[in-house]
Amino acid sequence: MKKSLKPLVILDFGTPRSRQLVRLLREKQVYSLIVPASVSTDALRNLDPAGLILCDADQYRSEQPPLQPGIITLGRPVLALGGAVRHFIQLQADTAKEATPDYGPSQKVNEKLFGPTQDHCDKDTDTEAEYPLILVRQDEAFHVLIQNFESLDDETAGTLLENFAKIYCQAPPWTMDRFLPVALEEIRRLVGSRKVLCGLSGGVDSTVVAALIHQAIGDQLTCVLVDTGLLRKGEADLVKELFDKAFKIKLIAVNAEDRFLHALQGISEPEEKRKIIGALFIDIFEEEAKKLGHMDFLAQGTLYPDIIESLVTGSGDAVSVKSHHNVGGLPERMQIQLLEPVRDLFKDEVRALGRELKLPEILVGRHPFPGPGLGVRCIGAITRERLDTLREADAIFIEEIRAAGLYDQIWQALVCLLPVKSVGIKNGKRVWEEVCTLRAVHSVDAMTAQPVPIPDDILQKITLRICEEIPHISRVLLDISPKPPATIEWE
Ligand code: XMP
Repeated sequence: MKKSLKPLVILDFGTPRSRQLVRLLREKQVYSLIVPASVSTDALRNLDPAGLILCDADQYRSEQPPLQPGIITLGRPVLALGGAVRHFIQLQADTAKEATPDYGPSQKVNEKLFGPTQDHCDKDTDTEAEYPLILVRQDEAFHVLIQNFESLDDETAGTLLENFAKIYCQAPPWTMDRFLPVALEEIRRLVGSRKVLCGLSGGVDSTVVAALIHQAIGDQLTCVLVDTGLLRKGEADLVKELFDKAFKIKLIAVNAEDRFLHALQGISEPEEKRKIIGALFIDIFEEEAKKLGHMDFLAQGTLYPDIIESLVTGSGDAVSVKSHHNVGGLPERMQIQLLEPVRDLFKDEVRALGRELKLPEILVGRHPFPGPGLGVRCIGAITRERLDTLREADAIFIEEIRAAGLYDQIWQALVCLLPVKSVGIKNGKRVWEEVCTLRAVHSVDAMTAQPVPIPDDILQKITLRICEEIPHISRVLLDISPKPPATIEWE
């Protein structure tokens, strides 16, 4: 997909560094993708790369995926990092007769890669054992090999990558105004005159996906919103308003609150909850889809971190801590093709795309929200009353951090209702009521998270409002656990 966007392709040898590189490059507005190091030359050629990065193979691991000899003949610049240098040199010795090696790390080249003040690679440039920085020229492509990449700090590594991408590879700038027309064209090409179904959750990803597809194919898109009763305050109405009225997108809204409450009655075990919510969601979605007649595609807001996870682990499930809720399982049951138009994007890029599509900031800038919704924030048994209590507390928390100007600095803010009660005094009377906890974290990709400090006066205001305005809460706690060991959600 998106051929004309010319990615910088990272050939991954199974080290976590690949993920860091792809993220670092995207932040520098360079389109980059990870593929396994053993990728075939044809598959690589199809991606039409601006350049290649061989990422950091561990020199001491015996079973490295083999590099395909053809990568050298693609005629694109190669940056080999760390242990990958050995692989590249070996490959070159095996294949490249016409190479002109040891072009030499002149000061000019160093400056080009690291900027004028850096001199990282001046030392001992021609000792084979060290390979600090070697340039090799072949078919007009300059290959840069850096052995001691590990010793570079993040900033220097970022500069090097950016300069390699922009100066050597001439990678075009990666911005969503350039991505949008390519994505629209790709959706039109794939879908033709067929029909697309899209589930909406109120979250950023599904909203952006629906708006994007609608812009591409108009009325060939139908959206379904299942109101599970586990959504945030006003969420279902917000989606209906936007899709029905503003975008005029075909929207089927189903109120399934009673069915979810019934299915979840008496269930407190987190995984059991997640499975019940996921399965019922699929049932209802499928029922609605059937009423619409045959649909050819199911649109999903799969993001690039999901793709990387399945690439790196072989299967995302192998290391998952919680069973994630999406519409997985549906494509096989419904015999429908998947359409994943933002699968190459990170969350911040999806948000930028949403802004390109003129979606309102209240939706685009929204914090992530889990598929099973308030179901996994209502710790212990779920009842309608507890859900309403939690929904109100969540709304107050979000309202106050927005008012304090903190919302956009926080990756995710959430309230959980705990499965304990505590004694308190309200209006001069003893009460025995619910306890909730506030959590605000910062994260880049949700794999790790750090607590965000909220000023005391704001915390006090939120606590007072929650205790005074919500009938069943008399105590508010603050959760400052980082991830790991705690996950972002409680369940
Ligand atoms: P955890 O709790 O695993 O969450 O640290 C990481 C991020 O994922 C969100 N999350 C989900 N998102 N379906 C989703 O689409 C899910 O089942 C789900 N569970 C957690 C969570 O809110 C956080 O942003």
